[in-house]
Amino acid sequence: MTLNILVTGGAGFIGSHTCVALVEAGFTPLVVDNLCNADADALVRAAEVTRSRQPLVFWRGDVRDGALLDRIFATYPVHAVVHFAGLKSVGESVAQPIGYYDCNVQGSLSLVSAMQRAGVHRLIFSSSATVYGQPERSPVCETAALQPCSPYGQSKLFVERLLTDLAHADARWRIASLRYFNPAGAHPSGLLGERTSGTPNNLVPVLCKVASSASEKLTVHGGDYPTPDGTCVRDYVHVMDVAEGHIAALRHLEAGAGASTFNLGVGRGTSVLELVRAFASACGMEVRHAIGPRRAGDAAAYWADVERMRTATGWIARRTIADICGDAWRWQQSQQPALAAAA
Ligand code: NAD
Ligand code: UD1
Repeated sequence: MTLNILVTGGAGFIGSHTCVALVEAGFTPLVVDNLCNADADALVRAAEVTRSRQPLVFWRGDVRDGALLDRIFATYPVHAVVHFAGLKSVGESVAQPIGYYDCNVQGSLSLVSAMQRAGVHRLIFSSSATVYGQPERSPVCETAALQPCSPYGQSKLFVERLLTDLAHADARWRIASLRYFNPAGAHPSGLLGERTSGTPNNLVPVLCKVASSASEKLTVHGGDYPTPDGTCVRDYVHVMDVAEGHIAALRHLEAGAGASTFNLGVGRGTSVLELVRAFASACGMEVRHAIGPRRAGDAAAYWADVERMRTATGWIARRTIADICGDAWRWQQSQQPALAAAA
């Protein structure tokens, strides 16, 4: 008998990779996703990666639909929930705060209410390093000041606080909020990766786009930061390491009740120009780029202190920046026929 894990937002970027890690770890993922930023085909490909003979169990629906969640919990015994479902664009959240609070906060409230009704009390929540805002020093510890600079970041912090209150009120809850730094890359098979609709903003998807087009050039957002090469420094962590972090966190929940927060990063910073060079080496061609003005709201440099996660769960990121770039590029190339057909 394997344990069922309900994965909200399981068709998305990190969710689909986590479904693979769950199957590989001997769990059975059950996915609920409204497909607002995903394609159900990702679940077919996730099953293909794991060579499952059966498709993943999938409900198309919204986590704000309490009746749907009640039906799911009534149909399957669920051991724990991994909650990815949410909206994640910082810029969009500034323009559409109501939509972001509704999806991210109301969605989480609806989920924990349904879990409470069903007697399911184990939860892993996708938080973000964005809750730190512009950290004063790195590595950033979980105890650093929490000063999110956007409605997106606020929505993550609200949910973390809701979960802490829940664990204080009821000792049955076992909760881990994982603050991801910069998840990037793709599954090494080339079958799963990050789907970007429209113009990408995040660095690795932009690099993929630039490298696959003769006409495009990367604009490096600022070359005059107080960093070794003048460009911003971030903690890029491979999406399969992030996925495996959820397995480690799930196992950690068995250690006891309460709500905890953990940074999920590599614990090292990489500059924009270092990443550009690593990407060029992975795809075997020059990546055209030019230094442009700073992007509003960007912090100069931050990376994670990963000691709490390592000590509590034994997890550390194992993959390199070269793996991130090589796997992202393989995924990008696998998308080319689809892109050409759509053009
Ligand atoms: P994603 O957009 O690829 O995945 C989110 C999934 O949730 C999508 O499949 C989407 O269709 C689904 N979804 C959204 N709202 C829903 C709702 N109300 N009901 C049901 N399904 C819904 O994003 P991702 O990169 O995989 O991120 C997953 C989680 O991790 C998000 O909560 C995000 O905020 C958080 N996070 C991501 C990053 C990152 O860099 N990717 C960094 C920090 C935190
Ligand atoms: C952003 C979000 C963060 C989210 C993360 C991953 C903001 C302020 N923060 O982080 O909440 O968790 O994405 O989804 O939006 N860069 C360029 N040129 C580009 C694109 C990016 O130089 O075309 C630089 C940026 O200035 C930054 C670095 O690359 O220094 C990484 O950018 P990005 O991938 O967008 O991540 P963050 O800004 O760190």
